[in-house]
Amino acid sequence: MRIARDLSELRTIRASLDGTFGLVPTMGALHDGHASLIRRATKECDYVGVSIFVNPSQFSPGEDLEKYPRTIRKDFELLEELGVAIVFTPKVDGMYPPGFQTWISVDDVTVPLEGECRPGHFRGVVTVVAKLFNAFQPDKAYFGQKDAQQAVVIRRMIKDLNFQVEPVICPTVREADGLALSSRNAYLNPEQRKAATVLYRALSSARNSYENGEREGDVLRNVMRSVIDSEPLAEAEYVSASDPETLRELQSVKSGSGVLFSMAVRIGKTRLIDNMLLS
Ligand code: PAF
Repeated sequence: MRIARDLSELRTIRASLDGTFGLVPTMGALHDGHASLIRRATKECDYVGVSIFVNPSQFSPGEDLEKYPRTIRKDFELLEELGVAIVFTPKVDGMYPPGFQTWISVDDVTVPLEGECRPGHFRGVVTVVAKLFNAFQPDKAYFGQKDAQQAVVIRRMIKDLNFQVEPVICPTVREADGLALSSRNAYLNPEQRKAATVLYRALSSARNSYENGEREGDVLRNVMRSVIDSEPLAEAEYVSASDPETLRELQSVKSGSGVLFSMAVRIGKTRLIDNMLLS
């Protein structure tokens, strides 16, 4: 495994690799969710590159940029075990040199949900992902369904800017009790960790209602909200039953269109997101 600490090292190493290339962009603090993306990438590509970069531009002021978990030694060990060819760990001024002022913004699909709660978040995400695509020149790039809106936004950006990259969206990995794996789960104390299962319980209730024939958007959203409200440590920022492509709230789910149930919920100070895609 080669470690590139800046763009010029990365370009040199990348140029020496001849074959299909898969990129897994991450912010580190790697867990089994990341490992599942990397395993899929190693199955499908000759070489796999992983970036570890806590991207400041996708955090709003007052969010957890400073305390975001950083476990670089452990991450390197895991990546070595998984057979990754290149790990890229740039510094902030390597990605955002002095005077940086060029941003990519995606319109409609960044407006609702996370976009409404975290202004500027997706501008930071798509800009850094585009820079990583330019640097790695991957054939495929792997992202988790856990960040459902991010997946929609990145697919849009790839199409709109003609990147020759195939996005591969991989299923959410969950703990036995349903909690979606996330680096931010590390912030939860034992009591909050128990309460955090409420996201999966709420999504599962909406799925049950849907499977029992419920198609009204408001009813499905209320099902999720009432499960969250039953958990004293949880506070919903949003619950959504939206069109999986446009991310607009659905009045009713039409046959053939599918539905994305998604939510952001605060457990204490920790903000968790989760979703379920039904087609
Ligand atoms: O999903 C993430 O971890 C980040 O948003 C990403 C895609 C690595 C960009 O910083």
